[in-house]
Amino acid sequence: MTPDATTPPALATRALGYRVGGAIILEDIDLEVPTGAFLGIIGPNGAGKSTLLNMLSGVGRPTSGTVELDGVDVTRLGAARRARRGLGRTFQTSTLFESLSAHENVRLAAQVRRGGTANFWRAPRRSDPASRVADEALDRVGLAAQSNTLTAVLSHGEKRKLELAILLASDARTLLLDEPMAGVNTEDVPVLRDLIGELHGEGRTVVMVEHHLAVVIGLAQYLAVLDSGRLLAVGAPQEVIANDEVQQAYLGQPL
Ligand SMILES: Nc1ncnc2c1ncn2[C@@H]1O[C@H](COP(=O)(O)OP(=O)(O)O)[C@@H](O)[C@H]1O
Ligand SMILES: [Mg+2]
Repeated sequence: MTPDATTPPALATRALGYRVGGAIILEDIDLEVPTGAFLGIIGPNGAGKSTLLNMLSGVGRPTSGTVELDGVDVTRLGAARRARRGLGRTFQTSTLFESLSAHENVRLAAQVRRGGTANFWRAPRRSDPASRVADEALDRVGLAAQSNTLTAVLSHGEKRKLELAILLASDARTLLLDEPMAGVNTEDVPVLRDLIGELHGEGRTVVMVEHHLAVVIGLAQYLAVLDSGRLLAVGAPQEVIANDEVQQAYLGQPL
């Protein structure tokens, strides 16, 4: 990839590796994501995609190599400290507060952005700035009518939209999305795709793992293929898809 000379990449890994016991989960991953870029990551199940996102977000620590966020080595920083440096993520399995309403979940994210701490106990005032940011974000993802609904009873697709509303309401500049379309109804796929496109269009850097190849190719400026813990190819999506090694690795399989 071709970051410009003055701005450090939003995210970079240098010789990143992750081993558990004798197993090599990730090996020698060198990746640079220029600020404002959209990187798609594809690869078969078990390739290490979610593990790589964990290393980037600070949920996990690599056993070798480094992670840089905006040119700063954050390898030793945990997820909360990386989040404070502008890194946001959604998980393959949702981590929403199920016992709060949709609005409360988004308001917490908006409150943190305003420099406050997320205060569960303060009575929500619908007029406070965080509350208004939450209303706007819920409206944008099409969940205005579900604002006061308990998160636990939202459908799977609604929960994915809620996660995107949380990112919209946060001031995270770099987003890590792990299979945001997984398990959603086909009619919701274009809605989520457009929302993710908007998150990127607003100037955020996005790294998205997604099986839905048409969606990835439609959004991503760069595509990385991970296979058995190794980076098989990185580049422009059409070139990567045409790459012989990639074709061979996926012979007879949908990418
Ligand atoms: N903490 C861990 N301990 C042991 N094995 C792990 C651990 N984390 C991931 N793995 C293994 O690493 C491989 C990659 O997993 P994962 O990153 O979830 O793949 P993907 O998201 O590409 O499907 C899998 O074989 C998984 O079983
Ligand atoms: Mg995964």
